[in-house]
Amino acid sequence: MTKARILSGMRPTGRLHIGHYFGALQNWVALQEQYESFFMVADWHAVFSEYKDTSKLVENSYDNVADWLACGIDPNQSTIFIQSKVPQHAELHLILSAYTPLAWLERVPTYKEAVTQLKDKEIENYAFLGYPVLQAADILLYKAKIVPVGEDQLPHLELTREIVRRFNFLAGKEILVEPSAKLTPEARLLGVDRRKMSKSYNNSINLSDDAETVRKKAQSMITDESRIKRSDPGHPDICNVFSYHRLFNKARVEEIRGLCSSAKIGCVECKQENAKKLAEFLKPIQDKRAEILKNPKNLRDIVEAGNERARKVAQATLDEVRAAVFKS
Ligand code: TRP
Ligand code: SF4
Repeated sequence: MTKARILSGMRPTGRLHIGHYFGALQNWVALQEQYESFFMVADWHAVFSEYKDTSKLVENSYDNVADWLACGIDPNQSTIFIQSKVPQHAELHLILSAYTPLAWLERVPTYKEAVTQLKDKEIENYAFLGYPVLQAADILLYKAKIVPVGEDQLPHLELTREIVRRFNFLAGKEILVEPSAKLTPEARLLGVDRRKMSKSYNNSINLSDDAETVRKKAQSMITDESRIKRSDPGHPDICNVFSYHRLFNKARVEEIRGLCSSAKIGCVECKQENAKKLAEFLKPIQDKRAEILKNPKNLRDIVEAGNERARKVAQATLDEVRAAVFKS
């Protein structure tokens, strides 16, 4: 029996952090055995918003792939590739743009949000409006039935399905396949300042942060603000540090809850323990990452083999699409 196909991607805008791990990578690793998996570095998507400075784009792409491998993505099971190295994405994007009414794009909620949030990046360009059209092309080239994503991506999946229906209807044939989202079980890991973990907020703990950096960042975390004196009982359920203990210190989490609510542990000590557990969690990933980065040729070979496989699958779909558009 052939496995169903999945495709997912990440934009290479910087180092990956623990939010990427719990929000995506952990899920990708869990899915790769069960599904025929395509994991893509969405570098064109990064260009759409980072076009003013693309100097780190290539470096970030390979750095991110190194983290994927370090976290357990297996290149023998999964196809890892770079979007811009598979030109079929650009071509299908162009074709689909003809089938996508402007009004559909203008009402995508992520669009207006991004334009106001990333003001200095000046993303009111032609390409950024079409971001979801390229994302549709990414998914449709592989006829992926399932797309593992976070909740924020649901509007893009919905738009992809609408494009499929419109294209197939006009082509008079079921060429493209409607995908469905597979939501990542939400881990709700916030940044050290309790905002959404994000590179642009400078509040993330990166997978590549060394123990000292982790210690400093963990130390700066906001705790239960109503706990002023050491003798005040704390409220673990509203404390960001506690939510980290839930993930990184499972064996002790109930004990810490008790110690905190009875003021038997101080926040400084609690944060130190958190930093230690975080570093312990990151250690094996970083060891593997270091090993991978020692052999850049091997890393490039893995990606090149992935690009090649992706191009084959993508071209087969593109042939069908072109035949429906350019009828002979
Ligand atoms: N837009 C996605 C994000 O920001 C990244 C992405 C690009 C993607 N192409 C994709 C995700 C295709 C899933 C499928 O997270
Ligand atoms: Fe948070 Fe720990 Fe302080 Fe409790 S003791 S408020 S869990 S940092």
